[in-house]
Amino acid sequence: MKKLLARTFSLVMLLNLITGCAHPAEEQEELKNIKIGISVYNQYDTFISELMTAAEEHVQEMEEAYGITITLDVQNAGSNQVTQNDQMSYFIDRGCDIVCINLVDRTDASTIIERGKSADIPIIFFNRELVEEDLERWDKLYYVGADAFESGIIQGQILVEALEEDFAAVDRNGDGVIQYVMLEGEAGHQDSIVRTMYAINTVTEAGYEVEKLADEIANWNRDQAKTKMVQWMQEFGDGIEVVFANNDDMALGARDALKEAGYYEDEVMQLPVILGIDGTTAGLEAVENEEFLGTVLNDSVGQANGMMELAYAVVSGNELSTEFTLLDEKYIRLPYQKVVKDNEKTTKE
Ligand code: GAL
Repeated sequence: MKKLLARTFSLVMLLNLITGCAHPAEEQEELKNIKIGISVYNQYDTFISELMTAAEEHVQEMEEAYGITITLDVQNAGSNQVTQNDQMSYFIDRGCDIVCINLVDRTDASTIIERGKSADIPIIFFNRELVEEDLERWDKLYYVGADAFESGIIQGQILVEALEEDFAAVDRNGDGVIQYVMLEGEAGHQDSIVRTMYAINTVTEAGYEVEKLADEIANWNRDQAKTKMVQWMQEFGDGIEVVFANNDDMALGARDALKEAGYYEDEVMQLPVILGIDGTTAGLEAVENEEFLGTVLNDSVGQANGMMELAYAVVSGNELSTEFTLLDEKYIRLPYQKVVKDNEKTTKE
């Protein structure tokens, strides 16, 4: 009898392992609604707002596919870490099953982690990558984003390809050196530091000589970038051959400055090459209109879908959708893609 009981017990354990059930069957059946709290660092950031739209759309598909309702409670931290910390407490009080955090200050995740941990609410961080030691502080912490260095390399490669094809068209003053300006995102942001470094390294490693005319932070913002570009145009005149921007909004700011100065109507004025990153709707249009030489698609849809699927998997105890891979049981990273006029990816799929 003892043997029989032991065998039955192991069989049940084995079945649980095979089906991956974390919860007893009755508990699983009860899961009819999931509440997800989301805090974005700044709701006016174009890339983030496109990502949120994608999340809202994907949740509707998931509701049909999984036969549950999913409630999203989206809050704007307004670039204030203290506000975001309070939003974490609000999500806990509201009974959220899981919380997604787009950190204001990626080096200051501790309060949010502690609050999540004491309430046993898992947290998915996204887009603004916290330091690895913070992510290791609890096994219910995750990160969804992309590898910044890939975007820098691809941005550099777009320029290298143009230089290989027609060096003189970019090196307009014919001095054999590429004069550039760099519009940087945000101090301390992984995507600013890494994109800036890898984009330039890719060009110099391909054997081209570059000269930095100026390099300034414009906080991912179109208007701030436009102001910087106006100053640089006064300072360097037609001497700017390439504008690197850490994102499309800032590249559009540079484009706006050139447009206002009449560069697009005047045959004599020499337009610099503009390079963005993100592939936002406006960024893709600028590639299509040949105002940007290219951009790098930062997959907002993939990141949004991955984040929502992961939230569902964590809360329900079901397997993560096979479309996504969870690396080291913590990370989902989506690849970047090159976007130039002559490939078909000038529109979002
Ligand atoms: C970057 C994106 C920027 C900005 C930033 C915010 O990945 O390229 O446009 O949205 O995230 O953290």
